[in-house]
Amino acid sequence: MAKILVTGAAGFIGSHTVDCLLGEGHAVVGVDNFRTGRRENLASALRSAAFALHELDVAEPGALAKLIAAEKPAAIIHLAALVSVQESIANPALNFSLNIAASQLVAEAARLHGVGRVVFASSAAIYGDAAERPIRESAEKLPVSPYGAAKLASEALLLGHGAAYGFTVRCQRYFNVFGPRQDPSSPYSGVISIFARSYREGKSVVIFGDGRQTRDFIAVRDVARANVLAATRPGVTSGVANICTGRATSLLDLAALFASHPPGSPPPTHRPARTGDIVHSLGDPTAATAALGFTAQVTVAEGLHELINGPAIPALS
Ligand code: UD1
Repeated sequence: MAKILVTGAAGFIGSHTVDCLLGEGHAVVGVDNFRTGRRENLASALRSAAFALHELDVAEPGALAKLIAAEKPAAIIHLAALVSVQESIANPALNFSLNIAASQLVAEAARLHGVGRVVFASSAAIYGDAAERPIRESAEKLPVSPYGAAKLASEALLLGHGAAYGFTVRCQRYFNVFGPRQDPSSPYSGVISIFARSYREGKSVVIFGDGRQTRDFIAVRDVARANVLAATRPGVTSGVANICTGRATSLLDLAALFASHPPGSPPPTHRPARTGDIVHSLGDPTAATAALGFTAQVTVAEGLHELINGPAIPALS
């Protein structure tokens, strides 16, 4: 059992990562400033004696370092971030503070207080509109948003510090993550969270374009497991890896999966494709298997079933 510090603990991916760590018997120190994180995401974790929650802003110089000095975690899983690509375009200075400067503070705190490992929430956004399919980690990185640029810069910052000061850094390049606790409130929220809400409200889902565009959708439960492996698996060395399934699902497939759940839903409505929308995004998952022993296990059909019906009901086969 190890003590792991998770930043962004009350967020979508953070809260699932906390639950997974606790489930495996680790002690967890959670950190969140509740800018976008929600306390109710941690309802189950807060009942555990192995979980401590601290309200602080990782971008505030000194705040995280002080906590790390006191707690001495074996690893940091750094998930706190400005998570919206659209918000990074609207507010690039905030993106710089939360998605780059905060990473430097994490690196510095790890160096000063002897933290052995840092796991970083990177993104497929670093690849921009990569032509390669599936995308391997070596693909050209030409981010097309301040968000993607910041994630790429943070990878470099953390890896450079890890190499110079002797701690392990794992950069996790998440593809399209979906699952319970994802916020559907913006038109630019993840499409599955938006479809789930429309489905619950009995409304028609809106498909932008012909619906043949594809994404590599990965269940948050799998992403949490990948984070736990990166933070705790013995013998892991520094590096980057796509966190994806290697399977492409189209928007038409998604709409059909939702419609197959009783009592059914109205047929999808089509609207013109969004400007800047990429057609296909698919990751190559082999590096994560080699480095972390991670392979995604939840299919999109199973993940949607859990999202709609809750995890207590057995997944569709
Ligand atoms: C992701 C980002 C987005 C960013 C883009 C850059 C998330 C949630 N989204 O988008 O902010 O600009 O990378 O490449 O991280 N769609 C519908 N109906 C809806 C909502 C979406 O048809 O109601 C479509 C979109 O047009 C898109 C697909 O679903 O073709 C997936 O959308 P989304 O979940 O936003 O993911 P990305 O397009 O990968």
